[in-house]
Amino acid sequence: SILIVDFGSQVTQLIARRVREAGVYSEIAPFTSAQEAFERMQPKGVILSGSPASVLDQDSPRVPDIVFESGVPVLGICYGQQTMMEQLGGSVGLGESGEFGRAYIEIDDSCELFDGLWREGETHQVWMSHGDKVTELARGFRVVATSPGAPYAVIADDDRRYYAMQFHPEVVHTPDGARLLANFVRHVCGLSGDWTMAEFRDTKIAEIREQVGDGKVICGLSGGVDSAVAAVLIHEAIGDQLTCVFVDHGLMRAGEAEQVVGLFRNSYNIPLVHVDAETLFLNGLSGVTDPEKKRKFIGKTFIDVFEAEAKKIGGADFLAQGTLYPDVIESISFTGGPSVTIKSHHNVGGLPERMNMKLVEPLRELFKDEVRALGKELGLPEAFVGRHPFPGPGLAIRIPGEVTKERCDILRKADAIYLEEIRNAGLYDAIWQAFAVLLPVRTVGVMGDGRTYDSVLALRAVTSTDGMTAVAFQFPGEFLARVATRIVNEVRGINRVTYDYTSKPPGTIEWE
Ligand code: XMP
Repeated sequence: SILIVDFGSQVTQLIARRVREAGVYSEIAPFTSAQEAFERMQPKGVILSGSPASVLDQDSPRVPDIVFESGVPVLGICYGQQTMMEQLGGSVGLGESGEFGRAYIEIDDSCELFDGLWREGETHQVWMSHGDKVTELARGFRVVATSPGAPYAVIADDDRRYYAMQFHPEVVHTPDGARLLANFVRHVCGLSGDWTMAEFRDTKIAEIREQVGDGKVICGLSGGVDSAVAAVLIHEAIGDQLTCVFVDHGLMRAGEAEQVVGLFRNSYNIPLVHVDAETLFLNGLSGVTDPEKKRKFIGKTFIDVFEAEAKKIGGADFLAQGTLYPDVIESISFTGGPSVTIKSHHNVGGLPERMNMKLVEPLRELFKDEVRALGKELGLPEAFVGRHPFPGPGLAIRIPGEVTKERCDILRKADAIYLEEIRNAGLYDAIWQAFAVLLPVRTVGVMGDGRTYDSVLALRAVTSTDGMTAVAFQFPGEFLARVATRIVNEVRGINRVTYDYTSKPPGTIEWE
């Protein structure tokens, strides 16, 4: 295994992800408990993360001595490089201006870390982000790559197999970074690269058992992939100590509620409470047109209903949530400054405090595509785990203006046709998210010999890697025309269809 010592970088989880991609098991330990983690894991190699701290500050974090005494290979990244130098006898100084963004390194010497990847004399793009820099190498080290702004871009002590770099190999802006990290864990550390999601599952199951003991766990199902995967995983760990609650707000897509309930009750035999709260939600939404008011009402009502159901089943000690890593990072401001609320995202935030429960969040370190892989490992149908994301407030935020049962039904029909056509065209998996929006605008049309005066529907489809930024999907020629024709012919109440070409930013993915 590999131990990743975390000094508080924003992207430490990406290092772990790259190591998992290389088929190697890793654990992240904060520097404060890294010694204990090292003793327990006996890792075959150690990676040191970056940090917002400066090694020049008093009491800035350090690598525990045991790491350098053990003789295992070590890879230092950014701050990791600087603290390595500081601790092994080199020195670090204040960079005049710092260096941020794309840079090009020249490979100056062959090095085991580059085997099969980079050669002397080549130039490669990397991503720099640092203020301080190494000013003097520790004994045994030599320079193996440089950039105009970084004379010590990569340094190596071949005998001890210590490597350190000033740039970040874990981010996508270092195109060969994933392969560089894979070279370290496999080639340098000698790990075989046969670790799989099956082992991740087993590790998490053991952790859940240990955390929960014989306590009771309750899990809110949203109909989405994340909460479903979390629930199935937890059920494998603790069986019927888990109860799932599915609050059906009536704002789901066509057939979705039935699908989730069927899957859990029939395929998995997981105890499931299905609360039909459509009337409650629609009554409360009557007359509400402001997007934030819709979101707040749905979020609050969801919590009310969930809490009442939890009481009925006799309470629980733990609340399970399908929180993913991007959810964790999004809730921490990147700049440390106050950030503006663009939309009040509705998950089941607010619940744990109100119900005084501890959280079980087994997916916290995973990214969306990894959750999908885990879902498949747990036997969830491919069509289910591959589903596009769907927002907690559901169709309510895809009906600008007032939400009524009638308008939900119209939207459901149109949305189903759009998605069916996307699936038939084999495009579903190429798109991050596709959906229809029913606009509060009516336009004039002609059908047969008659005049129509009906609603406009907007179609949206975007590609994205994490939902934070997105661009409109470019459908092939005839596709949108076919969808528009089908919708206007088959769905009463819609007589015009448009396509939304806005990217995010400046748009958001959802319309409200
Ligand atoms: P926006 O519209 O902010 O959406 O660009 C980004 C991604 O988040 C989804 N989304 C939500 N997901 N609860 C959720 O669980 C919410 O309240 C919510 N609002 C938006 C949206 O569908 C897109 O994938």
